Amino acid sequence: MSSYIIKGGTKLEGKVTISGSKNSALPILAATILNAGKTTLYNVPNIQDTQKMLEILTALGGKVEKKKQKIIIDTSTINKQEIPDHLMHQMRSSVILAGALIGRFHQATFTYPGGCDIGSRPIDLHLKAFEKLGIGVVQSYGEMQCQAEQIIGEKIDLDFPSVGATENAILASVLAEGKTLITNSAREPEIIDLQNFLNKMGAKVKGAGNNEIEVEGVKRLKEVSYNIMPDRIESGTFLCLAAITGGNIRLQNANPIHVTPIINKLEEAGCEIQTKSNEIMIKAPKKLKAVDIKTMPYPGFPTDMQSIFATTFCTAKGTSIIVENIFENRFKYVQELNKMGAKITVEGKSAIIRGVRRLYGASVKATDLRGGAALVVAGVAAKGMTVVGNIEYILRGYEKFDQKLRGLGADIEISEVI
Ligand code: UD1
Repeated sequence: MSSYIIKGGTKLEGKVTISGSKNSALPILAATILNAGKTTLYNVPNIQDTQKMLEILTALGGKVEKKKQKIIIDTSTINKQEIPDHLMHQMRSSVILAGALIGRFHQATFTYPGGCDIGSRPIDLHLKAFEKLGIGVVQSYGEMQCQAEQIIGEKIDLDFPSVGATENAILASVLAEGKTLITNSAREPEIIDLQNFLNKMGAKVKGAGNNEIEVEGVKRLKEVSYNIMPDRIESGTFLCLAAITGGNIRLQNANPIHVTPIINKLEEAGCEIQTKSNEIMIKAPKKLKAVDIKTMPYPGFPTDMQSIFATTFCTAKGTSIIVENIFENRFKYVQELNKMGAKITVEGKSAIIRGVRRLYGASVKATDLRGGAALVVAGVAAKGMTVVGNIEYILRGYEKFDQKLRGLGADIEISEVI
């Protein structure tokens, strides 16, 4: 187990380049199965989750070639439709492979996915969508076997705009007979990126970004090269790092439209923010003003930024209230943050954050990906030394986090010993 050792209290300044989006890269990597050929991807973040996804594609029989700026994936050789249980357990997004395997081979076998412990995270909506498309789902002892003679386009009405279920429904229907209409679909930018990727491959998907997506089945897909969009949660994390340290930074390769709710809240708190088409500049005040936030499906405030925002407002003037509406168990980091002098109380879905003068370095442990990133944000701002343990969670989703932070003036190192 590795740790970050952070000597805090530095005001962050300078430029940082945002990596490709984790949540976009993962479904697109899964979707490469559909063309039964070569796909060249640019801007895939080199993080543990994408490495795991490539490992699964290789275990299924695919070939992966990593070059400096690109990854070439050949799925023509895929000859297995069973996702290995030990790999399935390591990552929630492995479930997205089911839709792609079913789409191409009309069958897939998998177990319940793993991932961060931030709530119960069922997959009932994914399975219901498959069943709507005429795919038989047999569950026994935690294993799901999905099979269909034929996949025929249908209307799929999601009970909740689940990101993963929307993506799986799209992937399973791209090569189906006829039209599929997905209503109450998730509207996240990562779904637009998946649509753009699939359409470049020759698919006929439209409506992503709205709450109705139409997929007209095509017979086959072609080889393609594609550039993954920037990571909006990494962008939000660096904006918050500037905000809590009273810093002044420029984000490059960032899409300001994707972080609109984050920008709005930081402006309300007193930050000056300017944007260009792929850049965001932030200048933070000495002290932020408290704000209230409710997490919602896109275009609302993202749940993945909840812990990072809660941390940023620990030292704001006044009391902030954060309501978590998406995952029921996403306040585990609060106990760790309070060890650093934060005054946060959790009542049901709400965290009440009473602003303190400053945070102090302490020894803390990451409990999940974004909760772990929040502790790094706290450590960078705190007085004294912070040791963040269990950073494997953080490495799942942030590329070169320590290196990028050092580039902005932070004092952070990785230690292999706790
Ligand atoms: C994706 C993101 C994750 C983000 C989340 C919400 C990826 C790889 N991960 O996760 O970072 O936090 O969207 O923006 O893109 N639900 C069900 N049944 C289901 C599926 C979901 O009840 O079958 C519930 C979940 O428990 C949760 C809510 O729906 O309460 C949202 O989950 P969902 O949108 O599916 O999130 P993920 O796709 O897992």
